[in-house]
Amino acid sequence: MTYDIGIIKGDGTGPEVVNEAIKVLNKISEHHSLTLNFTDLPYDGQRYIETGITLTDDELEGLKQYNAILLGAIGHPDIKPGILERGILLKLRFELDQYINLRPIKLFKNVYTPIKNKTPDDIDYVVVRENTGGLYTGHGGCTMKNTEHEIAEQAMVYSRHQVERCVRFAFEHAKKRHTDTPWKGLSEKEIENGKKGKVTLCGKSNVLQYVYDLWLRVMEDVGKDFPEIAWDYVHVDAVCIYMIECPERFDIIVTGNMFGDIITDLAAVTQGGMGIAPSGNINPNGTSMFEPIGGTAPSFTGQNAINPCACILAAAMMLDHLGETEASNNIVQAVEKTVLKMDSMLAAKMGMGTTDVGNLVCSYLKN
Ligand code: IPM
Ligand code: MN
Repeated sequence: MTYDIGIIKGDGTGPEVVNEAIKVLNKISEHHSLTLNFTDLPYDGQRYIETGITLTDDELEGLKQYNAILLGAIGHPDIKPGILERGILLKLRFELDQYINLRPIKLFKNVYTPIKNKTPDDIDYVVVRENTGGLYTGHGGCTMKNTEHEIAEQAMVYSRHQVERCVRFAFEHAKKRHTDTPWKGLSEKEIENGKKGKVTLCGKSNVLQYVYDLWLRVMEDVGKDFPEIAWDYVHVDAVCIYMIECPERFDIIVTGNMFGDIITDLAAVTQGGMGIAPSGNINPNGTSMFEPIGGTAPSFTGQNAINPCACILAAAMMLDHLGETEASNNIVQAVEKTVLKMDSMLAAKMGMGTTDVGNLVCSYLKN
């Protein structure tokens, strides 16, 4: 199989982590007879500084020709916050209709979690974050600016269409995750009733009574199409408690854009931090984009000190999304072996350099 991959290395440590991911992808393509064509795309902060361009409509159109996009990180200390985020990253997510932000939360063996007494058995779930709606769309405005009566408004707006396709994805994902043995967090009664996995809606229906009531009703409707998947509801603040106290209660969490952003930073810390947290911006019918959750890490740029595992795992998610499941699993298993040799997931504390980590992952790939 041949795949055309758009590469946005980005700024800061972005290029360093993407280079390691490409190294691993090149190696894996030999083992699994894949042809991966990489095209470097300069859509980053550096270009914005030089030209004032973030991302043009033509460039966006051009991105649709790729089978997938791999992105390092975008950001620049000299650019006002918000310009690159909205002008590049969010524009890509919205315009390519990548309506799911998939964030697997998995603690690997030998990786430090700040939660005492929790093991890889306990921290293994997936957050399905809605990625094109909610507070992020910029419904709102500011009037009477700079007067004492000024008003700023930003609204959480969700259509049933947006909620439904996200919730449906979450249930489908739960189904895909547990094809034979039921998920271990299910109760005896649920297993008796033929349940195999569970979707937890994370919301705030007690306060956001319109938006999360819509989500709840959609859960009820869509849930009927998935008799083998149990579901429940937990308020977002309680989700934060459970993520620390009993992360093993989660299988799939589905939630809106803003809550999803916040809880996945917390979740990433429990799995060892930004160095090991990948994500996928998914449009099941179009071009999807894979990226590490972490940012540009300016203080570590150019030092061969940043952890490339998150980006390598993002590349594995990309292959899985493209249907190359074996190749994807091969990479994940090689990363699992690699982290056994690392001192820490934190930049500059790994006990080896960025390129060493990439080389080690390559050496553990199975033929
Ligand atoms: C993330 C990031 C982005 C987001 C920022 C950079 C716009 O925090 O991918 O989680 O809020 O979605
Ligand atoms: Mn975030």
